[in-house]
Amino acid sequence: MPRKSSLILIFAFSFLSFLTACAQNASKNVDSEGHQWWQHAVFYEIYPRSFADSNNDGVGDLKGITSKLDYLKDLGVDAIWISPCFPSPQVDFGYDVSDYENIDPMYGSLTDFDMLASEAKKHGIRIILDFVVNHSSDQHKWFVDSKSSRTAEHRDWYIWRDGKGPGQPPNNWTSTFGGSAWKFDPTTNQYYYHFFYAEQPDLNWRNPAVKDAMFDVTRWWYKRGVSGFRLDAVDTLFEDPNLHDNPIRPGTNAFGDAFEENKYDTKLPEVHEALRGLRKVADENNAVLIGETWTADIAELNLYYGHGNNELQMPMDFLFTTVNKLSPADFRKQIAAVDSASGWPTFVISNHDIARSYDRYGDGQHNDQIAKLMAGLYLTLRGTPIMYYGEEIGMKTTPPTRKEDVKDPIGRTGWPKEKGRDGERTPMQWDESENAGFSTGAPWLAVPPTAKTHNVADEAKDPESVLAFYKKILKLRHTNKALLEGTYAPLNENDQNVLSYLRAYKDQIVLVALNMSGAEQKVSFDLSRKGFASARSLVATGQSAANGNVVTLEPYGVFVGQLLK
Ligand code: NOJ
Repeated sequence: MPRKSSLILIFAFSFLSFLTACAQNASKNVDSEGHQWWQHAVFYEIYPRSFADSNNDGVGDLKGITSKLDYLKDLGVDAIWISPCFPSPQVDFGYDVSDYENIDPMYGSLTDFDMLASEAKKHGIRIILDFVVNHSSDQHKWFVDSKSSRTAEHRDWYIWRDGKGPGQPPNNWTSTFGGSAWKFDPTTNQYYYHFFYAEQPDLNWRNPAVKDAMFDVTRWWYKRGVSGFRLDAVDTLFEDPNLHDNPIRPGTNAFGDAFEENKYDTKLPEVHEALRGLRKVADENNAVLIGETWTADIAELNLYYGHGNNELQMPMDFLFTTVNKLSPADFRKQIAAVDSASGWPTFVISNHDIARSYDRYGDGQHNDQIAKLMAGLYLTLRGTPIMYYGEEIGMKTTPPTRKEDVKDPIGRTGWPKEKGRDGERTPMQWDESENAGFSTGAPWLAVPPTAKTHNVADEAKDPESVLAFYKKILKLRHTNKALLEGTYAPLNENDQNVLSYLRAYKDQIVLVALNMSGAEQKVSFDLSRKGFASARSLVATGQSAANGNVVTLEPYGVFVGQLLK
């Protein structure tokens, strides 16, 4: 028999180990399943120009966002990603940053930011900022110095090269926004490189001073209470130092440039080292890194998670947005692929660069049902969803109809083939009043006529609205272990109309059935083999319901149910 003193020692040791484990978990913020806060959070992208305008100058601002935190909390949002709100000449509406450590006066001040951060914290909402890592504005003091002389302190912070000859840029690379990616600067007789607009010169990430300065920017914001960053345009961080020409394909794009294969100016392996560095700083701050990663397949997506998940926790899976039709087969394929990826999936169906999901998937007649269907899909999958403001009320893409109304510069240079991105950036539709409650001043982009039929105030009163459905499904998602933690298993994989799957956590299993067709569907599931007899509805649209192992789905109907023995 162990002596009493040894028993005390054993007990004390076990208790200490228990405390240490708890402390480790708490410091990592992981739950009992090892999941971190961002794996259970619902993210929501806010385009600050268009969300809520507190000073009625026609442009949204930080105080406007603060005033809507109750709404966001009630909707079921845990983290907001704010598109760039830093000082900027606004050539690319904030994606041309002239000071990484401040707020553009158009959006408010650092005091307003601190107020937003502290109010958001009270609401249990985290803040994610948009970090434009690839380039700065040409008005940033680094670039102003860089262009001043060949020997300037910041010369090597950007990419300067001699032309091939008089009037000839260093190589054939084109800007993704049209024209050559090189701009000649007569002061120093060299060209600088810009993957986007000429006003957005690319930073030289091969220069360790640039890297350090950019890492410090993240530290600066972490100290101010930020929980992570969405990293802009990570694919383009590095380019071939030998400036090989890109291969050319037949045809021209909307800007009249020859199609180029971005072989030497995107996705260079060096990007991963930079991401590992940013991740190290993020880990020291319990923060998340979301990546704007335009991957061609899951193998490329896996590269962004990094070996042992030491790069981006949430590279965005845009492959999902390439399934532009209601095709169960295509979604099945895509979900299976991302589910087998080496990191946690991140789902996006709309953002400020992509036409809104409401009309990308909508058929023009059943768009509200289809909006609910899409919510039923991406909010019940294993992974973290990133919503886009207005998606929850069924906002529609409203592109300009006249060139003179276009605000996005790529819409002006590419008109009419490329109308720009104004259509997906229109003001949030809060109510039926003039300017949809966004502002009493003239909004920077016109409020779409659909504000009369799709707005927060009206939809909040209607239990059948798109908003009401989003709230229901988000509430379920936050409380249901199978949806939060469960594995994904596809069902009835040959069904051409209905996409269905199970989410299973221990003995708790949720069935999701989504009718992607315009006709009623009756689907039988072989549940008895798994020991279940039926499903109890948790969230469903209209008359969609289960009876035994048969689920009846109305056109574009959604059924989410708990399996019962
Ligand atoms: C991606 C952003 O999402 C887009 O809006 C912007 O124009 C480019 N990066 C350049 O920063």
